[in-house]
Amino acid sequence: MNKKLWFVLSSMLVLVMLLSACSPAAPTAAPAAEEAAPAAEEAAPAAEEAAPAAEEAAPAAEEAALPKIGFTIYKYDDNFMSFVRRAIETNAEGKAEILMNDSQNDQAKQNEQVDTMISKGVQSLAINLVNPQGASAIIKKAEEEGLPVVFFNKEPSAEDMASYDKCWYVGTNSAESGIMQGQIIVDTWKANPDWDKNGDGVMQYVLLKGEPGHPDAEARTKYAVETVVEAGIPVEELELQTGMWDSVKGKELMDAWLAKHGDAIEYVIANNDAMALGAIASLQAEGYFTGDKFMPVVGVDAIPDALVQIKEGTLVGSVLNDAANQGKATVDLALNVALGKDPLDGTDWTLDEVKAVRVPYLGITLDNIAVAEESYK
Ligand code: GAL
Ligand code: CA
Repeated sequence: MNKKLWFVLSSMLVLVMLLSACSPAAPTAAPAAEEAAPAAEEAAPAAEEAAPAAEEAAPAAEEAALPKIGFTIYKYDDNFMSFVRRAIETNAEGKAEILMNDSQNDQAKQNEQVDTMISKGVQSLAINLVNPQGASAIIKKAEEEGLPVVFFNKEPSAEDMASYDKCWYVGTNSAESGIMQGQIIVDTWKANPDWDKNGDGVMQYVLLKGEPGHPDAEARTKYAVETVVEAGIPVEELELQTGMWDSVKGKELMDAWLAKHGDAIEYVIANNDAMALGAIASLQAEGYFTGDKFMPVVGVDAIPDALVQIKEGTLVGSVLNDAANQGKATVDLALNVALGKDPLDGTDWTLDEVKAVRVPYLGITLDNIAVAEESYK
């Protein structure tokens, strides 16, 4: 054996001895480790796969941290409510996870939607009733779960509001819109003596009413006319029927009334703009608003389509129903109570004796139309 070979062999022996000394199990463990290696490699991509999953989970976890609030809109197919809904969605962004439901003008459907939202674990409910009398059934469901409820736009009775300490209302003072609309009628009637077409000193009017039993419809009808009478203008009601807040129904009624009364009608009073716009379409089809054929029409809401008509001179005026602030107040209250806070916490809203936030109206004519345009931006 030459020296070199001896050195190599002895070095190897030392190495083996050293290795086995450090880790007696090493020789047997080695193949196991080798087998384990590919397994570990396989595990690696799995771990990598887990990584994006964890990243995906992060925003989900953030969302889950936002309070969940269940909303209903009595029907999406309502011009004014579409603006309230938009305001709700804008104000809830980043603050709440919202479940939004179209109740399709069906109270039974809305009640089912409330059940579903409760089962999905909402922390508060914000309800635009289909039927103002539907509040008690919803209050009962909420009360069983200890859930707070914010009603909006369709005001429940004072009795229903008092029946549950965890319910509130966001809307308006309905009478105010009637008084303001009446004031527009008074001012324009006095400024335009030729609108009394038959010259009898009496204002012959037709009235397009909103949903019967809806506090806004009842109060607007009552107070608009009362304001005119109180201003010393004698009136005669030629027609009064419900157009259910709807443009198509407003047009159909106006078609029939025009066919029956023609120019004996001296003023068209509509509980909301959608119906006023329907009436204008009917009048236009009969040649009104061209030459000196004119008919005064007045609405409520001051929605963007109505503002266009005011500028064109086909709508005398409207009353701003502040969708932006009603949507904001609804979210503010529903969010606070979902978090167990005072409903008004961190807000400038105030509650009246029936736990209602009342967003003010504003009469709108060409003079101050910019205010309404700004509000619906
Ligand atoms: C009123 C509004 C109507 C209609 C109604 C629905 O406040 O003026 O246009 O949207 O609410 O409840
Ligand atoms: Ca007259």
